[in-house]
Parts: sequence; structure tokens; C-alpha cells
Amino acid sequence: MTYDILLFLHVLGATVLLGTGVGIAFFMVVSNLSNDPKLIAHVAGIVVLADTVFTATAAIFQPVTGYLLAREVGWPLFEGWVALSLALYVFVGALWLPVVWMQIQMRNLAIAAQDAAAPLPASYHRLYRWWFAFGFPAFGAVLAIVWLMLTKPTF
Ligand code: HEM
Repeated sequence: MTYDILLFLHVLGATVLLGTGVGIAFFMVVSNLSNDPKLIAHVAGIVVLADTVFTATAAIFQPVTGYLLAREVGWPLFEGWVALSLALYVFVGALWLPVVWMQIQMRNLAIAAQDAAAPLPASYHRLYRWWFAFGFPAFGAVLAIVWLMLTKPTF
């Protein structure tokens, strides 16, 4: 019973992390294509909120339910696929934290451009390229974690 509840919460957390990640990336990319500071300021504001409410919450609970599951089933934490997943999780976190900072900066730059009725500054476009470059490997690593969790390979 405890196992079932933990697994349910853990998989729920995984869907929130993946779903919010893909959703945020999609809305940021599409709003960026508009080049419209007002639209970008609005969407980036919602993205920052969504990351705080959904991603941050799920990111904190995921290792907790993961740890409890490992304890329940008897998987050693620092061996094999669980250890590799943990390393990938740290890697994702190291990329995600700067991404959150970049989103806040991009939102602020878009608000400033909107208020000044000016086009988006070069610093916005530079940040966007970094945001993209950080997001891609982070998402790939999350997919790798899901694969490891599902297949639990022995190596
Ligand atoms: C952060 C540290 C994490 C730890 C310690 C951890 C640990 C575990 C463990 C021990 C299981 C297996 C339970 C069993 O044997 O039935 C599991 C399952 C699972 N984990 Fe994680 N996990 C972590 C993060 C994640 C992340 C980030 C995701 C996806 C975004 C994820 C997705 C899943 C899924 C979908 C399953 C279900 C697999 C199945 O029942 O076949 N986990 N996790």
C-alpha cells in the first residue's frame, strides 16, 4: 500500500516535471517568435510563475518519493541505474537553476522594452540563445532519467 502511494506520487511528479518543462519551452519559443515585447513579457511572467508553482515543487518532492521508493523496494541509492539517475538529476538541476534566472532576466528586459516602446535589446536575444542551449541538454537528461527509471538496466 505504502509502495503504491509512493509510486503514484513519484510518477505524478514525473509527469508534472516533464509536462511543465515541455509546456514552458513551447510557450517561450512561440512567444519569442513574435518578437513582441508585450507578449513576451506576459508569457515570460507566467512561465516564471509556473516554474515556481509546479517545477520547483515537483523537483523538491521527486527525490523524496524516489528515496522512499528505493528504501521500500531495496534498491541501493548509490549503485547502478539509481546512482546514474541521481547524477543526471544533479546535472539537470545545475542547468535548470540558471535557466530560471535567465527567464526572470528575459521577462524584465521585455517589460523594460515594452515600457519604453522600444524593440527587444540584444541582451534579450543573447539570453534567449543561452536559455535554449541550457534547456536542450537538461530535457535530454530528464528523458534519460525516465528511461532509466522504466527499464532499470543492470550494468
Ligand atoms: C531524484 C531522484 C530519484 C530517485 C532516487 C528515484 C527513484 C526511483 C525508484 C527507486 C523507482 C523504482 C520503484 C520500483 O522499483 O518499483 C523509481 C521509479 C520511477 N521513477 Fe524515479 N527517482 C528519481 C527521480 C525521477 C525523475 C526525475 C523522474 C522523471 C522525471 C522519475 C520517474 C520515475 C518513473 C516514471 C518511475 C516508475 C517506473 C516503473 O514503475 O516502472 N524518477 N524511481
